[in-house]
Amino acid sequence: MASHSEFGKDTTATEVASVLGDSIKGRTVVLTGVSPASIGYTTALAIASQGPVSLVLASRTPAKLDAVVRDIKKVYPSAVLHTVLLDLSSTTSIHAAAVSVAALAGHVDVLINNAGVSTPERHPVTAPDGTELDTQFMTNHLGVFLWTALLLPLLKAALSARIVNISSQGHRLSPVRFSDYAFRRGLYDVPDAEKPAADLASFFTSTVDGYAGFLGYGQSKSANILHAIELSRRLSSTGIRSFSVHPGTIETELSRSLDKEGQDTIAKTAPKGFWKTQDQGAATTMVAAFDPALAEVDMATTVGYLSDCQLRDDMVGVHAQGKALATRLWTESERLLKYSVVI
Ligand SMILES: NC(=O)c1ccc[n+]([C@@H]2O[C@H](COP(=O)([O-])OP(=O)(O)OC[C@H]3O[C@@H](n4cnc5c(N)ncnc54)[C@H](OP(=O)(O)O)[C@@H]3O)[C@@H](O)[C@H]2O)c1
Repeated sequence: MASHSEFGKDTTATEVASVLGDSIKGRTVVLTGVSPASIGYTTALAIASQGPVSLVLASRTPAKLDAVVRDIKKVYPSAVLHTVLLDLSSTTSIHAAAVSVAALAGHVDVLINNAGVSTPERHPVTAPDGTELDTQFMTNHLGVFLWTALLLPLLKAALSARIVNISSQGHRLSPVRFSDYAFRRGLYDVPDAEKPAADLASFFTSTVDGYAGFLGYGQSKSANILHAIELSRRLSSTGIRSFSVHPGTIETELSRSLDKEGQDTIAKTAPKGFWKTQDQGAATTMVAAFDPALAEVDMATTVGYLSDCQLRDDMVGVHAQGKALATRLWTESERLLKYSVVI
């Protein structure tokens, strides 16, 4: 249970921060995916409002990071902010960024994996083991997996750290396609457990060059949930717990590469046409990251998925939960990266 039953879809990150301020003060927080007009910005602003010891902002575009720092400093001049360049589609960049974080902080209390991409087009990426992936799986999952693994020593150095993966209700579109990460086969030419969700509107299954962008996004967002489940399980003896979040439907830059039809389709996913403001869109992340009540939850019995500021395991598709799938994704991620995570 989250501690505040009154928090819901209308709650803002600013409100959550002021209520949970004692859990933010004195903490060292690392947040990825920080650009103006994004959820990362409102998350950073809400965290900065409560005086963390240090807030490390990691993202891929220096000018956007600088703009966010400038804007936060205008409101909270004494905020202690650091920036780190991080491109989650590049293992070289991820390794360098993790070294930069270690130079800035002796420990990390909260890691918020917020960065993400959504694209309708095929952008092939080759994993370190030679497997072809798409950029959504690489950026949204495999890069996040490596980045989190490299920060584990800093997270373990904290008293009871937390890792938050920003997923999406879009996870319901597709399981992880273990046999076809890059969508090279026919959409339904995979084992039953990897097929797209049934009865999808045709737009979600439309392809460009054989690539179904929405399903690729869904695959990566299912991976975010499974990754969080397995992190909590493997780290149970360390006091680190991990949650995943659906932030709501929020107008940001995420749909930047979609055409009008694609943007209209996304608009229809807003429950009863309800769009959150960017401040509301960061509220559930703030609960997952800082609510002390979530330290009492038995992680062995929950998916740890939050929506509208509450734990909502009931909203998670069967293909994005369960120990067997979570463990399989972890093992596969290590294989794709040719990297063994040290717990
Ligand atoms: N908006 C929604 O309705 C919605 C719904 C469900 C889930 N989400 C999730 O919420 C998170 C935040 O999305 P948003 O809506 O705020 O979208 P956004 O405005 O596009 O922000 C995404 C952030 O991720 C950064 N990013 C993208 N690719 C990166 C890479 N390779 N390496 C490092 N950083 C990278 C972007 O940096 P640049 O700006 O420099 O490219 C930007 O700061 C995402 O994980 C998304 O999947 C959003």
